Amino acid sequence: MTGRLHAIVFFLLIAAATADRRGWEVSGEGGDGRTPFKLEKSEIVVKTEGGEIRVFAAGHPLVRRWIPMHIGFITMEPETLLIPHYIDANLIIFLRRGEGKIGWIHKDNLVERRLKPGDVLRIPAGSAFYLVNTGKGQQLQIICSFDRVEAAAIDDSVSPYQSFFIGGGEYPRSVLAGFDISTLTSAFNVSGAAAEENKAQRRGGGEAVKAPDAYNIYDRDPDFRNKFGWSVELNEHDYAPLKESDISVFFVNLTAGSMVAPHVNPRATEYGIVIAGAGTVEVVYPNGTQAVKAAVKEGDVFCVPRFFPFCQTAAREGPMEILGFTTSSRRNRPQFLAGASSILRAMMGPELAAGFGLPEEKLRRLATAQNESVILPSSPETEERE
Ligand SMILES: *[C@@H]1O[C@H](CO)[C@@H](O)[C@H](O)[C@H]1NC(C)=O
Ligand SMILES: *[C@@H]1O[C@H](CO)[C@@H](O)[C@H](O)[C@H]1NC(C)=O
Ligand SMILES: *[C@@H]1O[C@H](CO)[C@@H](O)[C@H](O)[C@H]1NC(C)=O
Ligand SMILES: *[C@@H]1O[C@H](CO)[C@@H](O)[C@H](O)[C@H]1NC(C)=O
Repeated sequence: MTGRLHAIVFFLLIAAATADRRGWEVSGEGGDGRTPFKLEKSEIVVKTEGGEIRVFAAGHPLVRRWIPMHIGFITMEPETLLIPHYIDANLIIFLRRGEGKIGWIHKDNLVERRLKPGDVLRIPAGSAFYLVNTGKGQQLQIICSFDRVEAAAIDDSVSPYQSFFIGGGEYPRSVLAGFDISTLTSAFNVSGAAAEENKAQRRGGGEAVKAPDAYNIYDRDPDFRNKFGWSVELNEHDYAPLKESDISVFFVNLTAGSMVAPHVNPRATEYGIVIAGAGTVEVVYPNGTQAVKAAVKEGDVFCVPRFFPFCQTAAREGPMEILGFTTSSRRNRPQFLAGASSILRAMMGPELAAGFGLPEEKLRRLATAQNESVILPSSPETEERE
């Protein structure tokens, strides 16, 4: 892509001199791509002084095979507009910081929604949209998932999506520029006021259309809460648009040193993005060997394939917040391998004891020593050994 394209995709509305340019730390450039399940490489799709779009890719070949969707970060400086375009992927956005306004075409009408932190909204593939940073002097930070609906038709690059600009001139080129002049003059009836009228009518109708609202994940009561943290899952039962993407969104907030009990997602691959704090993510292979125990911090993205056991632990220094996307819009029903709600407790009996080669009593003691469930406290015995 050319430099000039970059300069115009984010349209600076007003030069922002007093802007709060406090970005957020995004790791990602570089990385040797050798840590499985951590998406260490990011590709900057667009970067201008108005903002950037960065997409994460799995560097490690083991993970690249599984990647059914991509995670992107959109950062917009104050007083900027992401100009109208559509992409060939469904987009689920989560507003992390700032305030924005999004406009998109829903059933032939323009609808607009104001967005605040915690809002989740789906923009279907092919639906033209624009985004405005409406926050006074602050950055707009969005985390999104892209699930591409068709295999790339022409462009066989690794790009996670293809953009088609509606507005635009030389750079980026509007898709309209690809048509014959004669086609456009008759299509637009260029001399006529009719087009204007038509546009006005459409706008007038916009109010009547019931387009989905954003869903605020912070406003909801957590699905689970104890003194070590809380978690919430947003699936198709809570927010119907997710069903069409077959994706759920979740949020986990761990207090300092706490961990999500080792668990398995039997229904979906999970993407996690650390949006505050730091900690570790541990993933185990099906053959019972450790795949990775990786330190993660704000801005890191990891991906855990369906059926793979894993756990996330917050650093002792402070809480860790994780936003995630899973590749199923159904209720996730994680299976816990430890804690009071573990499948070990549910299956307790001679059969399980035989499987472990332990006397049943001993196994029972082992499986019931942890009284907490789902989110567990740190214990002094599990000091970092690394
Ligand atoms: C095209 O524009 C002319 C003049 O403005 C108008 O009379 C005519 O009805 C328009 N045609 C269509 C198909 O809108
Ligand atoms: C997460 O929990 C910490 C306290 O452990 C709290 O300060 C923070 O505001 C919480 N985050 C959200 C998004 O609620
Ligand atoms: C376990 O599986 C992983 C991934 O397939 C492989 O790299 C590793 O060598 C295996 N380890 C053992 C002990 O079989
Ligand atoms: C955990 O359970 C054990 C045995 O049931 C009990 O003795 C202990 O007091 C419990 N601890 C907590 C913190 O609830």
